[in-house]
Amino acid sequence: MKAFIVYCHPSDVSFTRKVLDAFVKGLAEAGHEYENSDLYKMNFKTDMSEQEYLRDANYRTEPTLAADVLAEQHKINSADAIVFIYPVFWTEAPAKLVGWFDRVWSHGFAYGTKTMKMLDKALFLVTAGNTLQRLEQFGLLNAMKTVMLGDRLFNRVKHSDFVVFDGMSKKLTSRETNWHKHLATAYAKGKTLFTTTEEIS
Ligand SMILES: Cc1cc2nc3c(=O)[nH]c(=O)nc-3n(C[C@H](O)[C@H](O)[C@H](O)COP(=O)(O)O)c2cc1C
Repeated sequence: MKAFIVYCHPSDVSFTRKVLDAFVKGLAEAGHEYENSDLYKMNFKTDMSEQEYLRDANYRTEPTLAADVLAEQHKINSADAIVFIYPVFWTEAPAKLVGWFDRVWSHGFAYGTKTMKMLDKALFLVTAGNTLQRLEQFGLLNAMKTVMLGDRLFNRVKHSDFVVFDGMSKKLTSRETNWHKHLATAYAKGKTLFTTTEEIS
């Protein structure tokens, strides 16, 4: 089986990078293949052009899609699962990943007459500075899940799983206490990507 990883963090000096490494280790040990789009390293363009906007907002049917968008769509349609790994920025994904959705989830691919493959699974591995208690206090965790699972993924995958690695702010002692437990979870998620179906999307 093959996973397509969309990784989005500006620095390799990060816990999020360790999550990627642990996940990939588990995935490889389970005998699966993967492809990784490291959005910052690729310098993926995330602002829509005016032409792209007019096409996706149904003003025009042209232009045809840009090569970088087509390449990402090809990676999705060549995979069995998609995995997003990123830190929470202001209760969302980093702008770079949000822009990736704006351009890659295009008309005629993710909506309209869809050509996007129905993937077996989508997995979100999300690092957060705040504790789960704090994220739940004002419904912030639910807000993130609602947007990702209820909008971006809606009816586009068979199963989804949203994992938050919480308390990872450099200013919290929980960063140290949660470190190994979180990385063990990331590794296990790689090992079991294609054998567990926790939540029906
Ligand atoms: C611009 C910015 C916004 C952030 N917003 C949030 C947030 O809304 N909620 C939260 O829990 N953590 C937030 N964080 C903390 C990051 O999620 C945290 O740095 C990351 O999960 C763990 O650090 P590392 O992977 O960079 O080591 C934010 C960090 C930055 C830089």
